[in-house]
Amino acid sequence: MHMIDIITKKKLGGELNEQEIEAFVDAAAHNTAPDYQLAALLMAIRLNGMTPEETTRLTLAMTHSGDVADLSAIPGVKVDKHSTGGVGDTATLVVAPLVAACGVPVAKMSGRGLGHTGGTLDKLESISGMRVDLEEERFIRQVQEIGIAVIGQTGSLAPADKTLYALRDVTSTVDSLPLIASSIMSKKLASGADAIVLDVKTGSGAIMHTLEGSIELAQAMVRIGALAHKPVTAVVTGMEQPLGTHVGNALEVKDAIDVLRGRTKGALLEVSLLLGSHMLMLANRAATQEEARALLTEALESGRGLEKLRQMIAAQGGDPRVCDDVGLLPQPALRRTVRVGHGGYVAEMDTTALGLAAQAMGAGRMKKTDVIDPSVGFVLPVRIGDRVGPEDTLCELYARSEADAESAEQAIRAAIRFSDTPVERPPLWYAVVTKDGMIRN
Ligand code: URA
Repeated sequence: MHMIDIITKKKLGGELNEQEIEAFVDAAAHNTAPDYQLAALLMAIRLNGMTPEETTRLTLAMTHSGDVADLSAIPGVKVDKHSTGGVGDTATLVVAPLVAACGVPVAKMSGRGLGHTGGTLDKLESISGMRVDLEEERFIRQVQEIGIAVIGQTGSLAPADKTLYALRDVTSTVDSLPLIASSIMSKKLASGADAIVLDVKTGSGAIMHTLEGSIELAQAMVRIGALAHKPVTAVVTGMEQPLGTHVGNALEVKDAIDVLRGRTKGALLEVSLLLGSHMLMLANRAATQEEARALLTEALESGRGLEKLRQMIAAQGGDPRVCDDVGLLPQPALRRTVRVGHGGYVAEMDTTALGLAAQAMGAGRMKKTDVIDPSVGFVLPVRIGDRVGPEDTLCELYARSEADAESAEQAIRAAIRFSDTPVERPPLWYAVVTKDGMIRN
């Protein structure tokens, strides 16, 4: 089978059959076709789309392009959680310890920051000594012993996605529903979980900016899960502003610890409880959302959630004392408090621009080879709908230099719009999608 024939078929709007998809994925996994042919096919898919059947075929072929983890040695239902990516979205570091503290094993493979969005692995590595590159055997043993491990995915997991994602990143083909759905679901299916909770973000900081696009993506991934016989619940949550108040790697670890210590309430905690409750229900640990929420709240208030995080950090070589003293996390060269400077209501945020501001400060990578500075970023205490005055804090910058702080201040000011009249607060979640249908908030 020739790649050029497959490209031509998709260019003309045809539906690729199993053999054609297999040939494409095989070429991506083994680098047997030139990048320009793979990229041409990606663009044809981006422009002409895929049928649900084609998207499922692509996902399954990508899942089996490498190893599929076997977690059967871990007793119980292993439920994974995955976010489509956001800013200040450190829900994994809150929800994974809480769910584990409720007796449900969490064997999670996470990713690194991508573009304007942060990544759990980069955040965890801001803890001194923390390792996220455990061998599969040690990963499984840790979950057997303490009920939780969060690591990076091994190189042999969904290798076709690795090649295709890198090409999409530089060929303007990231924003394609079938390509996003197959990329995420192939990795989730290969990581061996029994059930999956997806946090599909929507709004100015999400990969899908419109609610309808996000719901369509959620439905596509739930459908793939059903065809692969994996229960999947997708929760569509708001990303029209950062989820937590902290943006940056060490700052987001601090935010998660503050939530687990019971010091911080608000959107990060609420979305974590929502996602966690769907995880407990998929694991058959709770029958209803109310029951699940009560279990998670008890794990939070008793300190057992924080204790799980402490155990996980210690087991992976990190300094567990950060759970009691967040001052042990990396500290920036300088801090600057920026005041709002005028009155009004916070009306709108360009959350992608906020994520890019953190990335430019050194919290993310501009190139693959860039080294992240874990100490930098910002705290943004204002939220859409807040009424603010001139002396209120707009943000607190954690920067490497005066010049970085100056550019970040300008970028953050430009990303936030104010109004003279009251503004409604956006909901935290919009829809829950399962194979049985959709509930809208
Ligand atoms: N995250 C992924 O893993 N893949 C995508 O395509 C988008 C977000």
